[in-house]
Amino acid sequence: MAAMSVPSIASARQAAADAPAAQQQRQAAAQNIIPAWRPGDPDSFTRYYFDSLMLETRYLDSDIPSTKFELFGETFDTPIMTAALSHLHNPANGMAIYAQAAKECNAVHWMGMGEDKELEEVIATGARTIKVIKPHRDNAEVFRRIKHAIGAGCFAIGMDIDHSFNSTGGYDVVMGVPMKNETFEDLKSFVKASSLPFIVKGVLSVSDARKCLDAGVAGIVLSHHGGRVKYSIPPLMALEPILDAVGGKMKIFLDCGVVSGMDAYKALALGVDAVSVGRHLMPLVQDGVEAVAKRMRAMTAELAGVMAATGVTSLDKMDPTVIHRTMF
Ligand SMILES: Cc1cc2nc3c(=O)[nH]c(=O)nc-3n(C[C@H](O)[C@H](O)[C@H](O)COP(=O)(O)O)c2cc1C
Repeated sequence: MAAMSVPSIASARQAAADAPAAQQQRQAAAQNIIPAWRPGDPDSFTRYYFDSLMLETRYLDSDIPSTKFELFGETFDTPIMTAALSHLHNPANGMAIYAQAAKECNAVHWMGMGEDKELEEVIATGARTIKVIKPHRDNAEVFRRIKHAIGAGCFAIGMDIDHSFNSTGGYDVVMGVPMKNETFEDLKSFVKASSLPFIVKGVLSVSDARKCLDAGVAGIVLSHHGGRVKYSIPPLMALEPILDAVGGKMKIFLDCGVVSGMDAYKALALGVDAVSVGRHLMPLVQDGVEAVAKRMRAMTAELAGVMAATGVTSLDKMDPTVIHRTMF
């Protein structure tokens, strides 16, 4: 049922000519993160949702587009960002390789769980990094990490609220570290403690989005965290009512299942500010900075190609009426 993203015969031939076998396999894997339809699996739903969206072309009066992206007073070359990954230790400096690639592309970089030293190594690459802190059971640890992230030179700070619970009704424990649920009051105190923009990752409802806005959060990431809860809706499907509730008042980012410039375009056209890419890039970390950066650039180029063909010359001119939903 879900359409797979498979390389064309021409690009597969080119890859065969260009790349050693292992690298070729990783690139093929990166193009095929969702191999089959799995009932109840949010990754499957998400792929299906992206693929159910079509677009109309608008050539007349279009022009060569710019993918320049403004965020919190800084300018980036693309709205396609890395996703908040963690534990990339193959090779050992995988987190730094991933960050360096974002830096090379002048893209916003996100970083997930990890110790202080690892964050400092990532910041040392020069990547403009948003550090996502876990919902630690002990708020004092959250405050300590906020302070460290500010001192280390992060661009913004976030929290993945979707790691509060395990799947059996208890609080989550991630790599031995205890978590808890966050309340509105907790959120307000984290925002207050952060002199940087504070972002909440893992929002799929108007209810959470409104609470984030009221707590002073600067942005939200629409995400099911790669399918933590079965039957979660595709993040893009959650967008419209969330835009109605908080659109224009905070930044809205999206991750989960973005594997192409076309996916990025659809999300941006419908109203998100920027998208993140995680598992699609992850296998390429083993091949080094240039392999990850090359794929990020190719996705941005594909985004630009779709923008040109749909009459969108800059990100602020995105128009949701370009998108059509499958009716057949
Ligand atoms: C290996 C791995 C580690 C991750 N670690 C974190 C993390 O520490 N914090 C976080 O917020 N999300 C983490 N994520 C989730 C990603 O940020 C992202 O939400 C998810 O992978 C969906 O995006 P994708 O389909 O582009 O991979 C991790 C994902 C993977 C695959």
